[in-house]
Amino acid sequence: MSSHKNKSHADWKAITKLFTHDRKNIHMGASQFVVSHPKPVHEAIDKYRKQLDKDPVQYTEKVENEYMQRVREAAAQYLQMENPDDIAVTDSTTMGLGLIYTALNLQPGQEILTTDHDHYSQHEAIRMATGRTGASFRRIRLFESLSSVSKEEIVLSVKESIRENTRVLGITWVHSSSGLKMPVPEIAALVREINVGRSEANKVLILLDAVHGFGIEKESFGELGVDFFITGCHKWLYGPRGTGIIAAKRSAWQTVTPIIPSFTEVMDKVIAEEERPKEMDGKQMTPGGFHSLEYRWALCDAFHWVMDMGKEAIWERVHELNRRCKEGLAEMEHVVVHTPLSDELSAGIISFDIAGYSTEEAVQALLDKGVIATASPYKTSWTRFTPGIINMEEDIDKALEVVQSLKK
Ligand SMILES: Cc1ncc(COP(=O)(O)O)c(C=O)c1O
Repeated sequence: MSSHKNKSHADWKAITKLFTHDRKNIHMGASQFVVSHPKPVHEAIDKYRKQLDKDPVQYTEKVENEYMQRVREAAAQYLQMENPDDIAVTDSTTMGLGLIYTALNLQPGQEILTTDHDHYSQHEAIRMATGRTGASFRRIRLFESLSSVSKEEIVLSVKESIRENTRVLGITWVHSSSGLKMPVPEIAALVREINVGRSEANKVLILLDAVHGFGIEKESFGELGVDFFITGCHKWLYGPRGTGIIAAKRSAWQTVTPIIPSFTEVMDKVIAEEERPKEMDGKQMTPGGFHSLEYRWALCDAFHWVMDMGKEAIWERVHELNRRCKEGLAEMEHVVVHTPLSDELSAGIISFDIAGYSTEEAVQALLDKGVIATASPYKTSWTRFTPGIINMEEDIDKALEVVQSLKK
């Protein structure tokens, strides 16, 4: 099964029917918040749950190692990574960010460079980790204005801000405040240049909160060029709620010390032989304890379902729906669209304001007319639509009609 299969003639109508969300409202927020499970994911969870309920001990003992490895293999295939062991399985983006920032072997005097545009989960994880270690953090603004932002401006801002003691650059693939998609491969190329001549212990590591690019965008892990790729799988991938992954380069795994002991084979080895693997990897960074196992195992099925539709086809579809929605909004005199229009600088999040309404009032007014939008959880909060494969063109057009009707 190729992750690049292109099914541009995919039956999107049939795909939306795999979701069981109610049809009395138009769901213009679910893909970016938390998903409604599509039928294949729902059925996989149900299949594993039935087996677990029948015989939890024997079933878990029999399949746990194998099924967790299947999840890693599917994630590695999706991201086009060679070694599935470079994938850690988590519960969410937030868990991944907290785990990696806390696990990093930071030294006093080193700094984490991050930006004004990242999510609360990344900012707090950085604040807590630096508070523990005596490292520091700094936040920068990446562009003057969303109406004129360019890839070049963003890369230059990063270039001018990296210092001798910058050990980590923490960024976000698609900002959930504005919907801006960052030029991640270009930033990674810049950091590679900066790292030439730096000792291994001082190289700048890039940590990416990938959650709003993951499941839409096409780049492989290698093409992005980051060290740590952290994401939840319960947004644009439509995986089981409460699942996420961390993908990292083998060299990056060597810069962390696990926080939570992992289970599976690592546990068996330590108990039997007091022996720990010589090299750190994603297996050892997968938090142990029994989890909601049926959800975790069904992540493998979610990856296969998405790969079967094809990354390319999904990219085309989500961008097509977003273009339709953004262009419709941009034509309205009483609406300001903050998200860049180009495919290069945006993905699936559209942030906008409606004249005469605060964001809270706009979300409520839309809901009163049957459209579920979200408010971005940032100091400057905007109304968001997030068209994804759960939506059809009719949803977009009806949502646009409702926005039009809110003109004062
Ligand atoms: C940019 C960004 N990062 C992280 C999160 C948290 O995601 P998760 O539910 O996977 O922890 C969100 C929430 O929507 C977000 O917008």
